[in-house]
Amino acid sequence: MNNMNREGAAASVPSESEVTERVETLLGRMSLAEKVGQLTQVGGADFIPGPRPEEIIRSGGAGSVLWLNDTKRFNALQKIAVEESPSRIPLLFALDVIHGYRTIFPVPLAMASSWDPSVVERAQAVAAKEARAAGLHWTFGPMIDIARDARWGRIVEGAGEDPYLGSAMAAAQVRGFQGPYPGAPEHLIACAKHFAGYGAADGGRDYDPVFLPEAQLRNIYFPPFQAAVNAGVGTFMSAYMDLNNVPASGNRWLLSDILRDEWGFQGFVVSDAFAVGNLVIQGFARNGRDAAFRALSSGLNMDMASSTYLQNLAGLVEDGMLEEAALDMAVWPILALKVRMGLFEQPYIDETLLEQVVALPEHRQEARLAAQRSMVLLHNEGGLLPLPKTLQNIAVIGPLADSKEATEGSWMVFGHQPAAVTVLQGIRAKLPQARVEYASGPEIRRDFPSPFEDFDTENKKPSQTPEEANAAFQAAVETARRADLVIMVLGENAEMAGEAASRSSLDLPGRQEELLKEVVELDKPVVLVLLNGRPLSIVWAAEHVPAILEAWEPGSEGGNAVADILFGDANPGGKLPVTFPRNASHEPLYYARTLTHMPEDSPMYVSRYWDSPTKPLYPFGFGLSYTTFSITNLRISESQVKAGQAVSVAADVTNTGQVAGDEVVQLYIHQKAGSDSRPMRELKGFERITLQPDEAKTVTFQLGPTELSYWSTKAGGWIQDAADFDIWVGADSNAALHTDLTVIS
Ligand code: BGC
Repeated sequence: MNNMNREGAAASVPSESEVTERVETLLGRMSLAEKVGQLTQVGGADFIPGPRPEEIIRSGGAGSVLWLNDTKRFNALQKIAVEESPSRIPLLFALDVIHGYRTIFPVPLAMASSWDPSVVERAQAVAAKEARAAGLHWTFGPMIDIARDARWGRIVEGAGEDPYLGSAMAAAQVRGFQGPYPGAPEHLIACAKHFAGYGAADGGRDYDPVFLPEAQLRNIYFPPFQAAVNAGVGTFMSAYMDLNNVPASGNRWLLSDILRDEWGFQGFVVSDAFAVGNLVIQGFARNGRDAAFRALSSGLNMDMASSTYLQNLAGLVEDGMLEEAALDMAVWPILALKVRMGLFEQPYIDETLLEQVVALPEHRQEARLAAQRSMVLLHNEGGLLPLPKTLQNIAVIGPLADSKEATEGSWMVFGHQPAAVTVLQGIRAKLPQARVEYASGPEIRRDFPSPFEDFDTENKKPSQTPEEANAAFQAAVETARRADLVIMVLGENAEMAGEAASRSSLDLPGRQEELLKEVVELDKPVVLVLLNGRPLSIVWAAEHVPAILEAWEPGSEGGNAVADILFGDANPGGKLPVTFPRNASHEPLYYARTLTHMPEDSPMYVSRYWDSPTKPLYPFGFGLSYTTFSITNLRISESQVKAGQAVSVAADVTNTGQVAGDEVVQLYIHQKAGSDSRPMRELKGFERITLQPDEAKTVTFQLGPTELSYWSTKAGGWIQDAADFDIWVGADSNAALHTDLTVIS
């Protein structure tokens, strides 16, 4: 296969036998220290203590560099590696490119709300193209941890609560980042993280221990990771936390038995940042030497930033604790990747490339489309939305209305300059003739700063005094009073979700709800636009505000996309990838629970809590449109099949409203009895379709052994029971259209 790389030189991908030969030759001439170097990833940022990366690279002590985003410096460091280090092995440059490099796409939770794997794939392809042009080779994404507790801040980085949707999003991201193979030109090597179970931290507290039975891991938390392997992901990252009392970064069962032996993963595993060294802090390893030994022997190839491998691995081999062959095995896939991607032939990046690539107009267009498709219309009483473009006098209110940072969201690449179109700007651009007044109201802030605050310019401003906050509050109310219609833009700042950003409450932070209440009191039409990275408990708003648009953290074109939707140039079609609870104390709350002896729809049942309804505020899969759809005529090819066989399930979907729109048709199953209890509903198929008014389409799903099998606690393995199933097809996880299926043995 021949590829033209951006530099214009024809790069041929070596055959596997050539790769093997070249890796073996390299290994044959490398010293023990250099092998350890290939297993070491060093930080390029100034905040990292210890010797400068230049020094480490020159001695052959690093195979990869992270936390650096500087094209010229990439080339300078690469020059040291390929001209001065002993075996002249090029470096891999890695960074977190999570939802865009220069063109920022909606955060991953938002992208999952599109229920559109093709848009997700294209977004990550754009991110990869820009980042690769900057000189990066490898991204630490996709993050594919299932998250069922919105208190956990990292819920923003993933695809939400469901393994089926999560698997589709994981595979789409891998395809988008990597293109045809790991290391392909104009793409990035992907990294499936954080393996595994990280989203189930006790209490939603980031980094806290995780206890998950094998059935939960296999049925819920593993599927997106296996989907990433099947999509050809090049690398994995181990998680930080203890999984059932064994840290994921020293967990042989995870990193070797499951990942390699069962799933056949051929790439390499990098630790999370400092995680190898942390095995000591976590009370697992006795010291750095023990940590290095246990991480390497569990199957962890590369030590991210802790230098524990660098300091200890050679000694362990010299003392006979580790075979050198174990190191060779760990180094092998790293060298193979470098050979395959042509780094030895073309180690440098053209320093003029980035500016050409980021200027491509299609990147902004993709970002705007992705943002439109990811937004979820939660509420629209009396058809208040879409708004007429004839409006003359609008107030745009709220601390996030003109915040570039909140619009782009969490996880920007190092050194990124916020450049999003804000909601205020988007509305002003949409209605150039109208009077659009703006007031921010009181600012919002974390009560405790983020450990990453140093990277965060916004938080460096001094806080408002109570007097300033009061004045801002009053100014906002007065601005609203002067308008005919008010658009409130509320939610969370970028640093309120993400790593080390767990919350004990899911309320609108600060005085936002108080401000919303005062504005609603003015008795004008009010639209609430939410910018946030997790479900929020917005019970009051749901009861009192006629229109609510969940815009998430929508990226560079976010403000334009919000305006497109508010004024009817785009019709919202996104659906929630997570349950919205009424209250943070209900978490974890997700739709795919097992039934109980008193199911929630039994006559005696009111709520699990005597002081609050348990039912979610908005269910998984929910989202409205400016049009209406009917889903009818559910049919199944056979109502009885043998285990191992497949049936097809079809339904007709009609646009019964006045405008074109998208529906996400969803299929859920429930196994009524069997070896284990099974969830009351499980998503097993979805398709997002576009329909013109009065247009109808038939949507067909396949249900076969893959969808009907599960990992059984009783059987201790994967099984397909002979059992009766409920099947529902509809527009969210409460779908009512039902049929039956019987599987016989
Ligand atoms: C995060 C990872 C990230 C790594 C490198 C860690 O703190 O948990 O998700 O990839 O840092 O930036």
